[in-house]
Amino acid sequence: MSAVSSLREVLYLSRHDIEKLNIPITKVIRVVEKAFIEKAEGRTEVPPKPGIHPQKDAFIHAMPAYIPKMKSAGIKWVSGFPENPKHGLPYISGLLILNDPEIGFPTCVMDCTWITAKRTGAATAIAAKHLAKQDSKVLGILGCGVQGRSNLEALTVVFKRLEEVKAYDISERNLQKYVEEMTAKHGLKVVPVSSPRKAVENCDIIVTSGPILKHPHPIIEASWFKKGGFACALDFDSYWKPEAMHSMNKFCTDDHNQLAYYKKVGYFSNIPQAYADLGEIVNGKKPGRENPEERIMSMNLGLAIEDMATAMLIYEKATEMGTGTRLPL
Ligand SMILES: NC(=O)c1ccc[n+]([C@@H]2O[C@H](COP(=O)([O-])OP(=O)(O)OC[C@H]3O[C@@H](n4cnc5c(N)ncnc54)[C@H](O)[C@@H]3O)[C@@H](O)[C@H]2O)c1
Repeated sequence: MSAVSSLREVLYLSRHDIEKLNIPITKVIRVVEKAFIEKAEGRTEVPPKPGIHPQKDAFIHAMPAYIPKMKSAGIKWVSGFPENPKHGLPYISGLLILNDPEIGFPTCVMDCTWITAKRTGAATAIAAKHLAKQDSKVLGILGCGVQGRSNLEALTVVFKRLEEVKAYDISERNLQKYVEEMTAKHGLKVVPVSSPRKAVENCDIIVTSGPILKHPHPIIEASWFKKGGFACALDFDSYWKPEAMHSMNKFCTDDHNQLAYYKKVGYFSNIPQAYADLGEIVNGKKPGRENPEERIMSMNLGLAIEDMATAMLIYEKATEMGTGTRLPL
């Protein structure tokens, strides 16, 4: 337990403070995977996230979680406003609060944009490790923003034979920037393509990361998706047609409860029954990929255990390095 004097203080970590800690994605993948194992064993608390919706297709979600093994308890308060990029603002913004699990006091308040980017990429890579073909070579990215970047970064760690990325974005400018940056960063062949179809066909792994729409107009058809492919949807059912999702041999999610909650509040009007969630797959309760022909999809909704596991990495490193600003409570 912390000393009495420090109970009256929280550590504040700005986005810049967090970025300069230089925590590698490999560490994020490792802690997020451990968090899913804890969840599968029933040793976490992670209620479905409630939200408010101040603008059309915008959200501000409250995401609490507790992972006893990591001594991590807290909440992320994260917003996604699809009109923001038009005003030069990021789509995602928010804060995360960590609490001392012994006495409940807040210990740290941090910007949550780095966490949201990295832990989501990590969850995709973990799902893909179990559900995609190990020799996957071609990746399709639809939506070349923050997630398009962090998902590619995490996937390159798990899939060493990745050779080519087919990138699609409705914004020509965003697409061009993505291709230049990602080519330089990863040394892969990053090819801009002119239609969603071209970013899906012949790809071993596909990540859709455009905006989430409550009433979507999806366009990806079952016939575009090759045998043996793995798709990870980060933008709910906005991109994939219902019949394409129903044609999967396995339709997975990161959390059954969260998916059921979203259905109750009006999302996901026509999706298949989920075969397994990520915790069940990671800890071997349900088999992942069983043959090279299977077409598999994971609907990753984003879970607060991913945030709390990653937040502890950040908090511990910041404390060790003396990074951040101490503020009185
Ligand atoms: N599931 C999760 O855990 C999780 C976590 C964080 C973000 N997300 C979701 O991921 C998505 C992307 O978030 P971000 O932070 O990368 O946003 P971003 O604004 O940084 O990037 C979105 C990109 O998509 C492009 N785009 C818009 N409409 C498109 C379309 N129809 N087809 C192709 N590209 C299109 C935009 O031009 C932009 O480049 C959002 O839907 C967000 O809610 C999911």
